[in-house]
Amino acid sequence: MLFDFAEISPRERYKLLVSTVTPRPIAWVVSQSLDGRLNAAPFSFFNAFSGEPPVVGMGISSHEPGRPKDTRRNIRETRQFVVNLVSEEAAEAMNVTAIEFEAGVDELAEAELKTVPSLYVKPPRIAVSPVSMECELLQIVDLGQDNGLVLGRVLAMHVRDDVVLDAAKHYIDTPRLKLIGRMHGTGWYARTTDLFLMDRIPRANWNLRRDHNSHDNDGR
Ligand SMILES: Cc1cc2nc3c(=O)[nH]c(=O)nc-3n(C[C@H](O)[C@H](O)[C@H](O)COP(=O)(O)O)c2cc1C
Repeated sequence: MLFDFAEISPRERYKLLVSTVTPRPIAWVVSQSLDGRLNAAPFSFFNAFSGEPPVVGMGISSHEPGRPKDTRRNIRETRQFVVNLVSEEAAEAMNVTAIEFEAGVDELAEAELKTVPSLYVKPPRIAVSPVSMECELLQIVDLGQDNGLVLGRVLAMHVRDDVVLDAAKHYIDTPRLKLIGRMHGTGWYARTTDLFLMDRIPRANWNLRRDHNSHDNDGR
């Protein structure tokens, strides 16, 4: 079925995107207003975009036209934020911080979340998160009046000790992070426990495999 984006409403375009581009990782972002008020909220228009420079980004919209979400406004004003990743154990607390509170409400306090001071930036990280990234604003790509792609450079990453397999080699026990992803609809999530392994194919092996297959076909 064809859905022509020129002929459907913004809401319908949004529904098609978020119910197909799945699972999406979740950035649980802590930011601070210019006068120091803390803010936390989850964003699943999120990913890492570059290793060098190390860049992560979130698509953050507005509560209503002309009223940007606190996170986008705070980051524009202070240029600092922390991206925390969300494990299964933190799912419900994350959901509390997504409630559309009035500006100025500290969602961390509402969800009874403990924080730990950051090293390079003013906003703290969330203690229960197994991975937190201290970020400085690189650029906000304005996407119309009420949406923005916030790109941040990662200055430091905190990883919970028990998931670090080998600190010198920077090996992380990724399945043990038990991160969740955002799925379709308004409330579906995915666990990251149903995995399969598929090795990359070296160029030379591909040639061998192709030759092998063509011999097989010759014989038929
Ligand atoms: C799992 C999840 C993912 C979300 N992803 C986004 C997103 O990518 N972009 C967005 O603008 N809002 C997203 N939201 C909604 C915001 O979290 C919500 O509007 C929040 O109140 C914004 O808070 P703030 O005004 O303190 O920044 C998401 C909510 C949930 C529960």
